[in-house]
Amino acid sequence: MILAMPGNERFAERMGLPWQPVEVHTFPDGESKVRLPSDLQRRDVAVLCTLDRPDPKLLPLAFALQEARELGVNAVRLVAPYLCYMRQDRAFHPGEAVSARLIARMLSGLCDGLVTVDPHLHRIQSLDAIFTVPTVVAHAAHTIAAWVRDNVSDPLVIGPDEESAQWAEEVAAGAGAPSTVLRKERRGDHDVSVSVPEIGRWPGRTPVLVDDICSTARTLAAAAAHLREAGTRPPVCAVVHALFAPGAAEALEASGVSRLVSTNTVSHPTNAIDVAPAVAAALAGLEL
Ligand code: R5P
Repeated sequence: MILAMPGNERFAERMGLPWQPVEVHTFPDGESKVRLPSDLQRRDVAVLCTLDRPDPKLLPLAFALQEARELGVNAVRLVAPYLCYMRQDRAFHPGEAVSARLIARMLSGLCDGLVTVDPHLHRIQSLDAIFTVPTVVAHAAHTIAAWVRDNVSDPLVIGPDEESAQWAEEVAAGAGAPSTVLRKERRGDHDVSVSVPEIGRWPGRTPVLVDDICSTARTLAAAAAHLREAGTRPPVCAVVHALFAPGAAEALEASGVSRLVSTNTVSHPTNAIDVAPAVAAALAGLEL
């Protein structure tokens, strides 16, 4: 039984499993009341809650997970198609919270197991290093590769930075295309530059920029603008998690991108790639 937090209903439908909504009422003073179906005794349940813009979602989610236990479920899994806070994976300055570790500790205390899609793992090697409950990761590369194969002629898959090499190579392999990775330097939230090594090796191909996250879109916009300066066709962008901070769409539009698509881990008008079946399969494989 999937219990869908508000905003996750469409994803729940696409998972192809029985599901029911969790009701969340916000009182005039900003506090929340969470209501679960009452017949959950001895059921195996999974609470579905993608965690983009996470702070207002986390407390109702914590109430739902705890209340499921109060109602006598066998086990309560958390399905978070987008797992928040993974990019803050070290203290860059003394005293800074390492949010990735803290959120993992917090969620581990609230559920018996976790399923997510392509979490941003960089300096932390695996979710098992920070979660104390079992975790399963669903990967979007296969479905993104299928989209690229069906929609882009002569693709060249490009990762905008070294961290994206893992996705770019997998997508390229699945799409039967070559791949390369750009070099990125980030000087601030909105200040990013990239360089384009060796792009002349693939004349006439359509660049497909692939990244796990689009937040401010400065990474993709800088990559797209440099590709255009290097004389490539207008690039297509495919991202896993469409976080889209304010101004992101405008930044991408100005950079000469021809099309932007995303998976449905975060609901967004660019969603074109359905990873809900992959998440349902990952949930089936979560052993507690
Ligand atoms: C960073 O390493 C990630 O893989 C993404 O490239 C990054 O989070 C994108 O952020 P933005 O859209 O703000 O440039």
